[in-house]
Amino acid sequence: MSARHTYRIAVIPGDGIGKEVVPEGLRVLDRLAEMSAGGFAFQYEWFPWGCEYYLQTGRMIDEDALQRLAPFDAIYFGAVGWPGVPDHVSLWGLRLAICQGFDQYACVRPVRLLPGVKPRLAGATSETIDWVVVRENSEGEYAGIGGRNLHGRGRGKEVAVQASLFTEEGCERIIRYAFALARTRKRRKVTSVTKSNAQQYGMVLWDETFARVAAEHPDIETDQGLVDAMAARFVLQPETLDVVVGSNLFGDILSDLASALAGSLGIAPSTNINPERRHPSMFEPVHGSAPDIYGKGIANPIAAIWSASLMLEHLGLQGEAAMILRAIEATTGAGVLTRDLGGTANTREVGDAVLDHLQAAG
Ligand code: NAI
Ligand code: MG
Repeated sequence: MSARHTYRIAVIPGDGIGKEVVPEGLRVLDRLAEMSAGGFAFQYEWFPWGCEYYLQTGRMIDEDALQRLAPFDAIYFGAVGWPGVPDHVSLWGLRLAICQGFDQYACVRPVRLLPGVKPRLAGATSETIDWVVVRENSEGEYAGIGGRNLHGRGRGKEVAVQASLFTEEGCERIIRYAFALARTRKRRKVTSVTKSNAQQYGMVLWDETFARVAAEHPDIETDQGLVDAMAARFVLQPETLDVVVGSNLFGDILSDLASALAGSLGIAPSTNINPERRHPSMFEPVHGSAPDIYGKGIANPIAAIWSASLMLEHLGLQGEAAMILRAIEATTGAGVLTRDLGGTANTREVGDAVLDHLQAAG
C-alpha cells in the first residue's frame, strides 16, 4: 500500500556520534510510519558530508548543496567536527552554511528534567526544570564579519576583528518567535538575555526591540537580565525561567548549561527553523560529535530522537511528535539510561526501549 503522504528527509549524520545517534532517530520515524498503516511514510536521502568528506574532497558540503537540499521537507542532522579538521572550518563549512543559507533563524532548544533522571541540582523537579532556550540563529556573534591581518609585522603582532551583527529585523523576528512560543506554554513567560552594559550598540538595540515587542504581549510575563547573572539564575532559581531568548552565542552557551543541569548534553534537542517555510528547516541534537566516546556505542540517542520529534511537529505530525516524547519519558522513567545519565544501557538499547514504548503507546 502506498502512503498517503511521503515526507522527504535529507539525512546528514556528519561526524562522530552523529553517525551513531541519527540511525536511532530514523528507527523511531520508521516505526511511526509503520504504525500509521499507510497514513504517511518517510523517504530519506543520505548525504555523506562532514570532516571525512572534507579530507577527501576539500569541501565540507558540495558546492550545490543548498540547491540539492532545497526540495526536502526537512533536514535531519547529527553533528559536525572531528580532530584533524579545525572546528571553525567544519562548523562554518556545514552547519552554519546550511543554517545561514536557509535563513533558519529560530533555534529552539527545549530542556526538561526527564523522569528517572537524577537531577544535578539539589531539589530540582520536572516542574522547576522546564525551559526552552530560543537562540537567534542567523546573525549576532556568528555573523562571520571580520578578519585577521598584520601578521607580517612579526611574531606577536597579528590582529583580529570579530564583529557581531545585530539588525532590528533580526532581533524582532526571534523575539516575536519567543513570545509566540510562550503563548503555547504553561508559565507564559519570556526572559531576554543580553550583555548590554558592555555591548552598548547591538545588545541595546536588542533590549529596545524586546521592550517594544513585549508591550504588544500584555498576556505574557517578561523579564530580562545580563548573561552572567542569567547563568547563575539557571542554577539558583531554575523555576523563574520558562522561555529564554538570547543571541546566537548566549543561546548556545546557555543551552549547554541548561541541558547539563537537566542531566546531560545527551538529551537536549534543537531546531534550526525557517518559520516562513521558504527553505527547509533542520533538526539536530544540541551536542557535538563527542570524539571522546565515539565508536563505543554508548552515546545517548535521546537528543537525536527528541530532535526527530521536533521535526515531526514542524511537519504537522503533532500527535506522533508527542508519542515520541512520551516514549522517551517512559524509557528514562523505566531506568533505561546511558552512562552520561548514570545508567548502563548503550545507544541501541535506549533506541530499542523507545521503540517498545512507542508501540505500547500506539
Ligand atoms: P560535544 O557536545 O561533542 O561533547 C561535550 C561532552 O559531552 C563530551 O564529554 C561528550 O562525550 C559528552 N556528550 C555529548 N553528547 C553526548 C551524548 N549524546 N551522549 C553522551 N555524552 C555526550 O562538545 P565538544 O567536545 O566541545 O565538541 C566536539 C566536536 O563537536 C567539536 O569538533 C565541535 O566543534 C563539534 N560541535 C559540533 C556541534 C554541532 O554540530 N552542532 C555542536 C557542538 C560541538
Ligand atoms: Mg553548542
